[in-house]
Amino acid sequence: MCGIVGYCGPKPAAPILIEGLKRLEYRGYDSAGICVGNHGELTIIKKKGKLHALDAAVPDGLQGYWGIGHTRWATHGEVNDLNAHPHSDQSGRIAIVHNGIIENYGALREKLQHEGYAFRTETDSEVIAHLLSSLYEGNLEQALKRTCAILKGTYGIVAMHQDEPDQLVGARNGSPLVLGIGENEMLLGSDVTALIAHTRQVVYIEDGEVVRVTPNNYRTTDLRDRRIDKKVDTISWELEEIEKGNYRCFMEKEIFEQPESIRRAFQGRIDHEHATAHLGGLNMSNRELLEIERIKLVAAGTSYHAGMVSSYLMENLARIPCNAELASELRYRNPIVERNSIYFAISQSGETADTLYALRELQRKGARVLGICNVVGSTIARESDGGVYIHSGPEIAVASTKAFTSQLTALYLYTLLIARMRDMSWEQGHRFIEALESIPALTQSILERHAEVEALARKYCQAQNFLFLGRGINYPVALEGALKLKEISYIHAEGYSAAEIKHGPIALINEQTPSLFIVPDDGLREKVISNMKEVKARKGPVIALAVDGDREVAAIADDVFSVPRAGQYIYPFAMMIPLQLFAYYCALELGRDVDQPRNLAKSVTVE
Ligand code: AGP
Repeated sequence: MCGIVGYCGPKPAAPILIEGLKRLEYRGYDSAGICVGNHGELTIIKKKGKLHALDAAVPDGLQGYWGIGHTRWATHGEVNDLNAHPHSDQSGRIAIVHNGIIENYGALREKLQHEGYAFRTETDSEVIAHLLSSLYEGNLEQALKRTCAILKGTYGIVAMHQDEPDQLVGARNGSPLVLGIGENEMLLGSDVTALIAHTRQVVYIEDGEVVRVTPNNYRTTDLRDRRIDKKVDTISWELEEIEKGNYRCFMEKEIFEQPESIRRAFQGRIDHEHATAHLGGLNMSNRELLEIERIKLVAAGTSYHAGMVSSYLMENLARIPCNAELASELRYRNPIVERNSIYFAISQSGETADTLYALRELQRKGARVLGICNVVGSTIARESDGGVYIHSGPEIAVASTKAFTSQLTALYLYTLLIARMRDMSWEQGHRFIEALESIPALTQSILERHAEVEALARKYCQAQNFLFLGRGINYPVALEGALKLKEISYIHAEGYSAAEIKHGPIALINEQTPSLFIVPDDGLREKVISNMKEVKARKGPVIALAVDGDREVAAIADDVFSVPRAGQYIYPFAMMIPLQLFAYYCALELGRDVDQPRNLAKSVTVE
């Protein structure tokens, strides 16, 4: 979604803004712009399309030491130069960038037009510039506070005024804003990746807060002008973690990082002596953990699939009713919060609006909501009642890969903890830990055979439609495989329970529609083999993800990729790797923009 960067300090602002926007590219965008202030004059340059178009339009040596930049992911108004941010008021003295959606912009626009303000764009955001102008009495910070009191909706705003040089003001309500404290310079960003090349010292701005920055100072207040003292956090990410290194794209890098990211997710959290897990961040006593009678996993997209996989594990091992639910659905169906139930909000970014609003609705009803997040300091991580960081390191590609396997790891640890308080014996716990600790080596051995998956992708990537089929704990893995393929290759793919195809989707089977079956050697293997035969009988091409040495599957399928034999609960990890690789190589073969697929955004901060 949209990205924001702001700078004031001793260096020319334009290159810093463009570099910051480049680091935000991963969020997904369709146009970009900057505004730079120099000697009491603001210069705005904005362009439809990718950043190189903007970069080319910025005159060499553009002077100015303070400015704002934005990457836009269109919500209101088509994608064109005019609708790109920054927007200015009609005098051209104020410029703003905005993330989020202003819900009352229609009424405000009408009122301002009535008062003589001329609008130039179709966006909701432009209303902020005119409102600021109408409420300005010589102090931009105060004008922003008055503006925020009128706005309805979500926003992260950064604004500048030509008469108040070397100063930026920002405000937040539901859309992230972070302050970066540098040496004689200050930055503002919609996430830390925009700032990390300049500083590790950050302050997270909260909803209802306003920040004013000058090169050597910042102050945070609420809308009633009361001072708020903020904690300064230190970012632990290294710059290389947000760079591609020798990989062709971030998605490739992130797929191949999984042995390490999975290890990081369980490192230091396993108690071998008692065959259980340590998860300090949950903020729950053993007594409270024991009293849990129901678990709900709330999330969107890939994170929802990780929740689905884990619900199978939780019910099987801990014998606690557990189900995953789409955050977007849960929020609006007046959820029943039962006593002794616990909720998890699972989110890589920690900023997904659907998940965040579901969390707030659940908390409002008195639920305890824990977070499973990757981004440290993200809104969900801060607002949840405790939780577990997955420590994947920054995930930049829009298609989530390493976060999925790390979310699973965190949820597997939680399951171990809960299961060991109930029926799971020390010995079973010990075996489960051994299986968990085998995952990095297992996934590494599968990744080393990436060329086999690449050959499969080359053979099948011209297909128009795909079915991804699995059963039991591997059914959500099939859903995730289909999601990966469609989002980056744009090939239509449906994920289904293999058992369900006879209830409808089998009508789609023909010689041009491949079905990809997940066939581990678990209790459902025979059933899945029968489903494969049903597809073969209708001349559908079959690709199988099976287990080494499974000759029966090899005899039925047209193509097989086999993974090493593993514990039944470990197959979701083993099977996910070839599915991610398959999607990646198909997209590459078809010449797609793998890291920034069309219409998608990394962190979906609007509903
Ligand atoms: C996955 O590849 C996605 N692009 C998307 O489904 C994502 O998982 C979803 O938007 C949730 O994001 P989150 O984990 O950051 O909350």
